[in-house]
This record gives sequence, C-alpha cells and structure tokens, in this order.
Amino acid sequence: MFSNASQEICLLVSAGLAGIIAVPLFLRSRRLDAIPTVGSTNSWWSAIKNLKGTSGIIQEGYNKYKNAPFKIPTLYNWIVIVSGTKLLDEVRAAPDDQLSAVEGTNDFFKIAFIMGHRVANDPYHFAIIKMQLNRKLATLCPIIEDEISATLSEMFSSQDDEWRPVVVLTTIRKVVSRAGNRIFVGLPLCRDPGWLEFGLQYAVDSIVSAAKIDLFPRFVWPLIANFFTCTGNHVGQAVEFLGPTIRERQNIVDRARSGEVDDFLQWLMNNGSESTEREITQRILAMVFASIHATASSLMRAVYDLAAHPEYIVPLREEVDAVVRQDGWTKAAIDKMYKIDSFLKESHRLGGASSLVMIRKVSKDFTFSDGRIIPRGCYIAAPSCAIHHDEELYDKPDAFDPFRFVRLRGDGNDMKQQMVSLSSDFLAFGHGKHACPGRFAAVVIQKLMLARIVSSYDLKLDDGAPASCKTVEFGIFINPDPTTTILLRKRSSV
Ligand SMILES: *[C@@H]1O[C@H](CO)[C@@H](O)[C@H](O)[C@H]1NC(C)=O
Repeated sequence: MFSNASQEICLLVSAGLAGIIAVPLFLRSRRLDAIPTVGSTNSWWSAIKNLKGTSGIIQEGYNKYKNAPFKIPTLYNWIVIVSGTKLLDEVRAAPDDQLSAVEGTNDFFKIAFIMGHRVANDPYHFAIIKMQLNRKLATLCPIIEDEISATLSEMFSSQDDEWRPVVVLTTIRKVVSRAGNRIFVGLPLCRDPGWLEFGLQYAVDSIVSAAKIDLFPRFVWPLIANFFTCTGNHVGQAVEFLGPTIRERQNIVDRARSGEVDDFLQWLMNNGSESTEREITQRILAMVFASIHATASSLMRAVYDLAAHPEYIVPLREEVDAVVRQDGWTKAAIDKMYKIDSFLKESHRLGGASSLVMIRKVSKDFTFSDGRIIPRGCYIAAPSCAIHHDEELYDKPDAFDPFRFVRLRGDGNDMKQQMVSLSSDFLAFGHGKHACPGRFAAVVIQKLMLARIVSSYDLKLDDGAPASCKTVEFGIFINPDPTTTILLRKRSSV
C-alpha cells in the first residue's frame, strides 16, 4: 500500500516537522509521568521510528509491562497501551463522553476530512448495520455466496488443470469488493467494473491521505486536509455511478419499501436521515472503505496459510462438502463450518491487520482503578498482536495450529471460541459495545470465500516461498505484502 520511496519522504518530512512542533508532546508527557514509556528516551525520535511500524516496540512494552499501562509516542501525542481483562474492562466500562471510540477512530482515520463531517459526527450507518444488515444475514448468505462463486469462476476458468500463479491480494480484493457491493448496492452496480475499480482506489487513497495528514499536529488538520484529500472529487465521481440508481429508486419508493430491493443503499434511503445523492453516496463510500482493507488482508493471510499448509485442504473440504450437502450454501451451513472458522481465526491471530485496536480518545481525564490518571487528549488502545501471541493465553503461541479453536470448543460447543465472539484474549474486531458492528458480515464473507476456495481449488506455494506471508508495516497498520503470489489450480480429486 505504501511504497518505500513515499515512506522515506514521510519520515524525512516528519522528522523536520516533529522537531519543530514537538513541544506539546513534552508538555503533555509530564502529566503522564506515572506511565512508563517504551522505546528511545528521545520521544520525537521514537515517534518517527514508530511511523515505520509499531508492532516491535509494542511487543517490547507488553513483555515488560503486561497487564499494566505503558505508553508510546506518536508525532504529537501519546498512546497509552493497556492489556489484561481488568484494565480492558475498565476501558470498556468508561462512558463515551470520557473515552470516545468514535473520536478515536475519527482521529486515526481522519474520517471528517476523508469522508466528510456528517459521516464522522453522526455515524448512523452503524445503527443500520446493526438493525438491518446483521438481522438479514440469513437471507443474504446465499446471495453473497452467489456473488463469490460468480467472481471466482469469472477469474479462474474451471478448465484450469495446470498450476497457475495468482497475485493473492488483487484477487481477494476483487472478491471482497464484489461481495461487499452486492450487499451495499446490489445488482447490477456491484458488477460494474468502473465502480469496483473506483471503490478499491478510493479505499487505498483514503488510507494514504490519512497517513499524510497524520504528519501534522491535530490543530492544523482542518487547514491542511484539503491539500492531501480529494473528498469532493471522490464523492462527485461516486455520484456518477450511484446517482442513476438512487434517482430511479426515489421514483419507485413504494415498490422498494415493500421489500423488493433489500440492500444497504435501500436501507439508507428508507431511513431518511439523509436524502441527497451526495449524502447517501458518502455513506456508501464509508461502507466501502470500512469493508475492504481488514477483510481482504485477513482473508489473504488465511489463503496464504492454506497454500503454505496444503495438508489442511482435505479436512476443510470434507467439512464444507458435508455441511453444504446437508444445508446448501445457507447461514445454517456456514454456522456449522467450525474448521473453516477456526482456520480463519488462527490465521488472524498470527497475522492481524493492526498492532493496536480499541482505540479511544480520552475526552475527559480518565483514572484507572489503581489511581493512575490518563490526561485528556491522549489515546488509549489495546495491543492486539502482542495479546494474540501471549503464551499464557495461547498454548504454543507461535505455532500455526489451525484447528486449535475447534478443540477449544470441546464437546459442549463453546460458542465463545468462534471468530466473531468478543473477548479480551482475541481482539480482531475490538471489544465491548464499540466492537466492529460489521464483524458478522465480515466473517460470513471470509468463511464463504475460504469454503468456496477449498471446495473448488487446490493451492500450494511456489518452491522457496516463505512459510508465512510477508508483511509491510506503517504506523499501527500491518499489511500483507501486495505482491505475494500463490499457485492455484482446479480441484483435482472430486
Ligand atoms: C434512522 O436511523 C436512526 C439511527 O439508528 C434511528 O434512530 C431512526 O429511527 C431511523 N429512522 C427510520 C425512519 O428508520
């Protein structure tokens, strides 16, 4: 996602800037003296190094201060990192006007500048995810499956008996974006190559713009954001794709309300909080942005892990064949795919898309039960990767053991072991009431995709490829190397 050249430029620019504007950081740090710092004693140098990736320093902090808070600097601020059920429970229990999940996310992704102030300040699309999307997943499963198999069979001819190289991220992004758009805007738009291409580019551009704005202190964001974003332009382009559909539906409101059209666009229109084409389009763009990166990178890891360990293809295939024979490609079948679920969860546990999750902005001074005060203006977050590799929480934490969560389910079928469940030991989707509301759909898409792949294809790695997917870090983000390839061919034994 980020080329090396642009990383170097970012580092240079920030070194300069941070040197000049690091004063507020030191002022705030005095109030944070009770919380130990990890990394170099020179905070701004540490902050600049953290732009290149934070997982190493966070692991170091976790090794030293597990279950107690420690802090790392960003260019102009501090992130206080907390772990352990007790502290995480205190963070979860804090009221929104004290520890704000919405403001934390807005700041990290610069939502107001990239998606507009309305999307940032009134995220009612979250409510629609909960009220509509999550409740309609059973109806949507066969539809999503249809989109995934249509995409896969367009990309890979069923005549392909020969092994052929496949660029994993490109492939996965295509499938994820079509599956997502089938839910967001429905047919035929979800298959429009122009719209899909635009959406993928939009998601990448948005992250890059956010990273550039992040090189500046918060109080100048409103002034400089325009130089690094092209929000107006993006929305204008997106309206060209969505506008005709929105207008057409506005003219046939009654038929649509009766339930003939059932997709996110329609739920937004039925809600009526916003009614102009631009407003509705911005919500759809927010969904496109939120759905692509994490889902695609998680799935990509899983597909790579499967290619690296092809011995697991047969047991996964047997599970999928058995449940689909019984229930078809339904939600009931997907719920019974324990091995698929466990495989995805294990792959995410070892990989992960971000070294920190549960990011909260401290809006009013916050006091932990041990008396330690976190001053207003900092961030609090949880070290997901470090927690996922903790040997007290996971037996042989560095081993890839794809069916470990099937075993942990036990005979009682402990549902807490499924990927979508929240806990302070597994933080793929955050934790507590602000956990990612789209996780149910994200997991369904991932399970359907992995199930479809094992039932139709054989995978393996090229000779000499590394046993786990290479990654590229930037700040708190961990991205799989976009050039990674695997080998794929039509399933040989039916
Ligand atoms: C629109 O969404 C908001 C936020 O969830 C909700 O409070 C409101 O009742 C919805 N309105 C309609 C007409 O569905």
